[in-house]
Formats: sequence, C-alpha cells, structure tokens
Amino acid sequence: MTAGAKVRARAAKTIAAVLGGSALDKPLAQGKQGLSEVDQSFLSALAYGTLRRMPRHNAVLMKLLRNPKKPLNPMMRALLTVGLEQMVATRVPEHAALDATVAASRLVNQAKGSGFLNAILRRYQREHKEIDASLENNEAFKWAHPQWLIDKLRTDWPDDWKPMLDANNGQPPLVLRVNKLKTSREDYLKMLHSVDINAAAISAVPTGILLDEPCGVDTLPHFEDGFVSVQDSGAQCAAGFMDLSASTTESPLRVLDACAAPGGKAMHMMELAPTIHLTALDIAADRLEKVTENADRLGFSPDLVAGNAVEPEIWWDGKPFDRILVDAPCSGSGVLRRHPDIKMLRRPKDARTFPVFQREILNQLWPLLAPGGRMIYATCSVFPEENEAFVASWIPSAKDAQSTPLECPLPNAKSLNLGVQILPRATGSDGFYYAAVLKQKG
Ligand SMILES: C[S@@+](CC[C@H](N)C(=O)[O-])C[C@H]1O[C@@H](n2cnc3c(N)ncnc32)[C@H](O)[C@@H]1O
Repeated sequence: MTAGAKVRARAAKTIAAVLGGSALDKPLAQGKQGLSEVDQSFLSALAYGTLRRMPRHNAVLMKLLRNPKKPLNPMMRALLTVGLEQMVATRVPEHAALDATVAASRLVNQAKGSGFLNAILRRYQREHKEIDASLENNEAFKWAHPQWLIDKLRTDWPDDWKPMLDANNGQPPLVLRVNKLKTSREDYLKMLHSVDINAAAISAVPTGILLDEPCGVDTLPHFEDGFVSVQDSGAQCAAGFMDLSASTTESPLRVLDACAAPGGKAMHMMELAPTIHLTALDIAADRLEKVTENADRLGFSPDLVAGNAVEPEIWWDGKPFDRILVDAPCSGSGVLRRHPDIKMLRRPKDARTFPVFQREILNQLWPLLAPGGRMIYATCSVFPEENEAFVASWIPSAKDAQSTPLECPLPNAKSLNLGVQILPRATGSDGFYYAAVLKQKG
C-alpha cells in the first residue's frame, strides 16, 4: 500500500461521512490520526477542496455516468469526487492522482468498483474539455453551489449574490484580533513584520489584522501570552455592539453570552471591558472546554455554564442580566468558505426550521434581561428568515422590546430596517447578522 493511496482513502472516508450527514471537523480529525504532517495538510486540502467544489464535481459526474439517475453509494461518490478534485484543483500529476485514487478504493471496501472508478476518471481525463464546455450553462457547475442555494441567494440578494458565491468559494483569510490589554495594533504589526509575517491593519475594525498568508498560530508572536486571537473581522463587531463601556469595578455589568463556545465573542467582550461579570453558557460541554482554553490563555475567568438556553430555570441564579448576547445556532450560510461542508449539509427547509429554535431561545432569555438592558441577536447566516425577517416578527411578540439601530463600519455591511446584514466578500469578512433590542424601563 502506498502512502498516496492511504491519504486518498482517508479523504474518501471523510467525504463519505459528510455525505452521510456529519459535519466535517470530526471525521477529518479522525482521518488525520497517524498521518505525517505533510499528509495531514494534503488530506485537509483534499477534503476542503472536494467539498468546496462538490456541486461542480456532481454536475460532471452526471455527464460521466452511464445511468446518472441510479443511486451511487456514498463511498464511491466520495472516491470519484476526490479523484476529480485532484484533476481540476491540485498540482498532483493526473496519472499519479488517478493511480492513487483507484488504489485507495481497495482500502475502503470498494475493490469491486475499482474498474468503474478507473474508467470514469480516465474518461474525464480524456474528455474534460468537451464535458466542461457542455456544462457551460449549468449554474451548479459554474458556481460550485447547490442549485437551490444559488436560487435562494439570487432571490434574497439580487444585487449581491454573485460576489457572495465568489466569496464562498475562496480560501478564507486568517484574521487576528489584537488584545489591547496586552499590546497595541501598531506594535503587534511590528512584531509580525520582525518575524517576516506580512500583515496589515483592517481599518474598519479597531482590533483587526489581516495576514497576507494563513499560518499556524504557533508561529504568531506571543500567541500563547494572549496578545492576539484568531477571529474574522465580521465577528469582531459583536463586542462593540454590546455597549459595555458603563461597566466599572464598583458596578460591573452582568453579561450573559448564551451561546458562547468556542468563546471568540466572549473573550473579546472581556478584552474590551474586563470589569464585566460574564456568564458564558453553552449547551455543548465539550465545546465549552475551548472557552476554558481561550480564557486561560487570555487570563480571564468568566463563569462557565454547561446548559440549555431554553431551560434557564436549571442554571439561572435569578439575578437579571444587563446585557445578553445570543449568537444563535443557525444555518451557517454566511461562513461557507470556512465550512464548505455546509454546502452539502443544508437543505432548503433549514431556512424555516432554524428560526423555530431561535425564537424559543429569545423567548426564554428575554425575561432574564433587566429593564433598560440590551440584547444583541447575532447569526453567521445570510438567510433573511433567521435574521431581519425573524427579528421583525419576534419583537412585537416580546414584552417591552424595542429595536435600536447599529452602525457597522465594514464596507460589506448593509443597514436594514432593524439590524445590520454583513454579506461575505472575497476581500472582506464572512457573513453575519446583528440586531440590537432594548428592554424598556418599567
Ligand atoms: C455560532 S456558535 C457560537 C460562537 C461563539 N459565540 C463565538 O463567538 O465563539 C453557536 C453555539 O450555540 C451553542 N448552542 C446551540 N444550541 C444551544 C442552546 N439551546 N443553548 C445553549 N447553547 C446552544 C452551540 O453549541 C454553539 O457552540
């Protein structure tokens, strides 16, 4: 067995798991076990790339398969798409890519299909120009998104859907948030340049730095000392929207981050206003461990609570919060470039099902907010159903709730009636939505 076949087999297993409904992170972490560092990064590139271009590869397969309507088993589809991915998007010589992928089929119980796999991939090698040309008008092929998603984004964002699709297909940039308790942005840029890492300030967000090339955090100066954290510039807007400046040591604001893990926004709030009394809640105990790691590295000690936002009677001490951040579980449709598995995992009905959970979370948390308090509702989605349309329908149903405008300085942000929608851009941030709701006093 060659090392090349082993990596392709791990890639096929990872992709097959996603096709079976799993998020990418766990099967990818499993696939990396026991591989060399070089093979681990090749596996990541193959897995991310194959999923990013999966709708394109599927369109090609419809042309290559003799009977395209006959269901293909997920492992064979995974092998085929991993093979196509190498041919269209990697520098691996085609013959090596094909041989290793066909050899991989034997490692994932698809030895019987190896002749079929070989024939399909070799046909694409021979005929790719004609096949690609015949798909010129196929949008899923052209934009590498599921057709329903292209249609939805075109309907929801008629002036923006094309740059959004482009952004979703790009490599995500590495963006840092400078911890101003430890250093200034100017000084940290100098530290980066001194170790030959090229980077520039993101002018729209006071703490943002964009690296020219992504790199491992262990190469960032003083990362372990908490000088910087990794956080997209769109996510860096949240802490400022919370309006924490009134917090003092004598009279700390009580803040709830209701969906806190892995803790990016929670830690930013603490950097901005270290006197706040922060409760960081998350339903997933394993994800809360990430918040602990981040808090330890940055030197903060928020109250960490593993609990369900819709069951406050179990974890709430009865004292009202002055601020609540609800960074709600959502479709993730604004962060496809970082999570390309979402392209394959989401279904059209999700734009209707997520708001059911989002409404329940807001309904249960609203009574916990003090009169005069402020709630920020956030998602990393671009679907109006879980953003502006949802907030517009929720506010009238909540006692004493009143929307208040937010100003977002990012060039890819749109001010809507109630909140602000940040749309993903290749040269800008991921997609987010924020709305601020105040609880009127007595
Ligand atoms: C978008 S992520 C939060 C990201 C985080 N705010 C940050 O900036 O790092 C959403 C989180 O909500 C959590 N979650 C989902 N349903 C929840 C619920 N009912 N109660 C509390 N947390 C929930 C998930 O486990 C997930 O960690």
